[in-house]
Amino acid sequence: MPRIDYGSGLMIDAPEGMTVLEASIRHGLDHRHACGAMVRCTTCRVEILEGDENCNPITDNEREVLEASGFGPNIRLGCCIRPTGDIKIRLLVRERFAKEDLRPEGMAKEQDIAVLFADVRDFTSFSERHLAFDVLHLLNRYFDRMGTIIDFNRGEVIAFLGDGIVSFFEDTAPKKAAFNATRCALQMLKGARAFSRYSREHFGFDVHIGIGIAFGPAVVGEVGYYRASRLNCIGDVVNTASRVQEATKEQGVRLLVTDGVRELVEGEFKFGHEFACELRGKEGEHMLYEVLARKSRR
Ligand code: FES
Repeated sequence: MPRIDYGSGLMIDAPEGMTVLEASIRHGLDHRHACGAMVRCTTCRVEILEGDENCNPITDNEREVLEASGFGPNIRLGCCIRPTGDIKIRLLVRERFAKEDLRPEGMAKEQDIAVLFADVRDFTSFSERHLAFDVLHLLNRYFDRMGTIIDFNRGEVIAFLGDGIVSFFEDTAPKKAAFNATRCALQMLKGARAFSRYSREHFGFDVHIGIGIAFGPAVVGEVGYYRASRLNCIGDVVNTASRVQEATKEQGVRLLVTDGVRELVEGEFKFGHEFACELRGKEGEHMLYEVLARKSRR
């Protein structure tokens, strides 16, 4: 039976066909595996010290992941190596935390989501002219109103950035996720108009918001530490939604979506102007579409 030597005198027998990661886990070793052996991370990587000839050949998928992160020829992914003979390795991602403080690996998932980014116009100048307690008061009432609408549309708020709200929408059906996000944005615009009456009456401030929505792949999972941990999403789609929101200011409109969102919700909403925009930090021009209203249903 193949034997894996982890160094420092630790050796484990691995039945043929078993991966190095599976052997590590079976023997209770702390071998990280953030993506759950999906070949979508590098946390299970090991250095092959001896017995390279006893490892199965690297696949295109594994090579792509390793090369994208700049790892050299002696590095392999533990979840991809199935030893056919003895090997000696070194685990490369080592924890500095007590095992009981670590969240389980492999809980995050990769999927297509709609990300909605909403921002209040001119809030910085409002906050500079008002007392901090008044600003907090107004902001929390606004977040209450918007958060309720996001909840209603099955969205998940992932961050409050100053006066900005970032939320995402997931569903096994991409159309549904994009639909919920777009419907939510229209309801938020309406909710902000209603909220503006309160804000104007008590603080002389008209609340106008701009919203950008993008659709694309992201990794969704818990982020934080044990006292402050919440669902979050990581991926370029989050930046894109933020840039689309910025474009609403430049184009003087309230709600813009990317072509990916438009494709998914076509037929459900009325669209207005379309814009070919450069988005900060992104190459080329991107088509963005103004959403005006929900199409009436008979
Ligand atoms: S656990 Fe993510 S690639 Fe091996």
